[in-house]
Amino acid sequence: MQRLIITLDGPAGAGKSTVAWRLAKRLGLEFLDTGAMYRGLSAKCVERGIDPVAEDYAVVELARNSDFHFDWSQDPPRLHVGDTDVTDRLRDNDVTGQVSEVAAIPGVRQVMVREQRRMGKDHPRLVTEGRDQGSVVFPEAEVKFYLDASPTIRAQRRAEQLKAAGKKVDLKQIRDGILERDRKDSNRKDAPLICPEDATRIDTSEMTLDEVVEMLHGMVTESAGHAL
Ligand code: DC
Repeated sequence: MQRLIITLDGPAGAGKSTVAWRLAKRLGLEFLDTGAMYRGLSAKCVERGIDPVAEDYAVVELARNSDFHFDWSQDPPRLHVGDTDVTDRLRDNDVTGQVSEVAAIPGVRQVMVREQRRMGKDHPRLVTEGRDQGSVVFPEAEVKFYLDASPTIRAQRRAEQLKAAGKKVDLKQIRDGILERDRKDSNRKDAPLICPEDATRIDTSEMTLDEVVEMLHGMVTESAGHAL
């Protein structure tokens, strides 16, 4: 089977998850949501009352001893941590509120990068999204994109997602949260958010989801059509 890994890096709310999922479907590839893994670990920390700032060693321990796996038979794949399906918890406020702290812990990132590379071996025809996929996890990916959008647009998109999931929404709070997470994610020492040199950067602020998917689909067909 010819390998085809497509990475989508970029900040929170740039539309990575939805675009990656739809692009994967359209190309007949699998879909990996790596933010879900950090969120899943954050959910486990909440459940166990672990504070990721004061007890980073405990978070690393938990990451090392937890089995993260997706149920690839579901579309999109559902995330299990150990025996628990944590998918419905991933976008809750308490989980989102501390996920940046969880993701900033170097020992946690080591575990996640290793797990993601393992998943890439088992599922070598993959659209994977997350801010370090093209820069750190799959530097040799066949096609790389970096999706960006203005903070206001990103906040609006996240608000729509939350509303659709029946959650309460405060737009200003979401925008502030996005700016704060951008700041932390770009300034952290380990795998800060960057646009990989060999990635195509796309500003999606003025584009609909369909237009983004269409554009990426066209670019993949052009540059990696032989592998499709
Ligand atoms: O994309 P998202 O909002 O689901 O990501 C949740 C958090 O995890 C966010 O703070 C960024 C972080 N993350 C990361 O550091 N590396 C990844 N590959 C994916 C997400």
